[in-house]
Amino acid sequence: MKGSVILSLIISVICPVVHMARVFVYGTLKKGQPNYFRMENTSNGQAVFLARARTVEPYPLVIATKHNIPFLLNVPGTGQRVYGEIYRVDQKMLEFLDRFEHCPEWYQRTKIQLEVQDGDAEGEKSIEEAFVYRKTTYESEWLQKPTYESYDANGDHGLKYVSPEDRSPE
Ligand SMILES: *[C@@H]1O[C@H](CO)[C@@H](O)[C@H](O)[C@H]1NC(C)=O
Repeated sequence: MKGSVILSLIISVICPVVHMARVFVYGTLKKGQPNYFRMENTSNGQAVFLARARTVEPYPLVIATKHNIPFLLNVPGTGQRVYGEIYRVDQKMLEFLDRFEHCPEWYQRTKIQLEVQDGDAEGEKSIEEAFVYRKTTYESEWLQKPTYESYDANGDHGLKYVSPEDRSPE
């Protein structure tokens, strides 16, 4: 007991930035998707890939607005269990993501339950919690839209994602 207290003291001295958070991304920030480069850019902070995961509960993942943005709507129990990726991020990256996701105006960052996919023991899938950016305010017709289990900007839905840099002013 005493040893572990001393150990954690040592760790907090040599690694002062222990302010790490876990974030689940399900849309354009995933590997191979149009905003992944922002996760890799160390000017934005640090993001370390931890695992692929799937939401424990189903949610509607829809593509909406004229910019074809993927949104996880906060309606648990409808839609599908959604696949994404868990990253460990530092405070700087978390602040970058909050700005990028327009949190809390567009998306709200809350915790979500996830089933880790690439675990070690076969059949033993661990449950983890991470932050997720999801939409709690949306137009009712978004609930009529097709839902996706795994977002792909180049999927056969044909809804091309428009990145922030390419959006024309209103
Ligand atoms: C990384 O982010 C910084 C700060 O936002 C930006 O100036 C730079 O162009 C980015 N680099 C890449 C390769 O995207």
